[in-house]
Amino acid sequence: MGFIGSNFINFAVNLDQKFKIINIDKLTYAGNPENLKNIENKRSNNYKFYRADICDFKTINKIVTKEKVDYIINFAAETHVDRSIDNPSICCDTNIFGTQSLLNVTRKTNVQKYIQVSTDEVYGSLNFEGSPFTETSHLSPNNPYSASKASADLLVRAYFKTFDLPVNITRCSNNYGPYQFPEKLIPLIIHNALNDIPIPIYGQGINIRDWIYVADHCEGIFKVLISGKIGEIYNIGGDSELRNIDLVKNVLKSLNKPETLITFVKDRPGHDLRYAINYNKITKDLGWKPKTKLDDGLNWTIKWYLENQEWLKNVISKNYLKYYEKQYKNR
Ligand code: TYD
Repeated sequence: MGFIGSNFINFAVNLDQKFKIINIDKLTYAGNPENLKNIENKRSNNYKFYRADICDFKTINKIVTKEKVDYIINFAAETHVDRSIDNPSICCDTNIFGTQSLLNVTRKTNVQKYIQVSTDEVYGSLNFEGSPFTETSHLSPNNPYSASKASADLLVRAYFKTFDLPVNITRCSNNYGPYQFPEKLIPLIIHNALNDIPIPIYGQGINIRDWIYVADHCEGIFKVLISGKIGEIYNIGGDSELRNIDLVKNVLKSLNKPETLITFVKDRPGHDLRYAINYNKITKDLGWKPKTKLDDGLNWTIKWYLENQEWLKNVISKNYLKYYEKQYKNR
């Protein structure tokens, strides 16, 4: 029950067109049953949860067969770049072998479509003047996380070409919104600011990310699920490029906290300078574009974290704190 998957399930159960949702999750540190408590409590007959690892082909195959699953959307991933730098193998298992296991399940069952939720990070880094990535940009990942996602995308492509598997790949910008684990920049800023803890900014804070509100991303994935042409890749961008330093200042201002909390620390190794996405293809072919302006999305997100401080406290386990302290000391 990770960040984007939880948001997608919340989005999908509220659609007019009813779907039965089978949620499979290993429940790692970033997956939290709290995220879907509302849906669980309703005990609705269109939602079911199984705890399992996507690398476990046998179990997943059994669940998919038993539940007569029509579509698989793979949200499962180890997504944190810093963790992948500290321990590159953690992201290979889930992101590469897990994807391959799900592709094998798709092959062996009656699944009609497989969607790989990927990232713009597979394209590597842009300079400040570079044109935003299109679906045909070269894959040039620069860190173990993005390399593992690029590897998974290549496997999806190979299964399409070799086995005619009905697949789509979506590649999105940096997501933000409710239920994001506070190791990622935006919830980390909010968490630290609320607790008056220094906010580590890597390098000079000039790196640029394109931010997409998670609900917009979910809508894009849904469009691809229903209308995406088999075998195609779709970029899902947020139209909201911002330097990290400006983002931090915006959030601090909204929270009425001082900029003195900003602490410049040693840069992340292999730190990508800029991500930017050209999403013309999904607009032209499927009629999707992002609806949320960054200022609005940030305000909603900050409001959500303010109202859910108990959630924030609960997800920061002892383990995570240890990791965070180590990270912070090292930089
Ligand atoms: P992050 O949320 O980790 O996403 P990604 O690395 O996948 O883009 O980081 C977003 C940007 O913020 C990235 O340029 C790294 C930077 N960053 C910091 O400066 N300090 C931090 O503590 C974190 C987590 C990220």
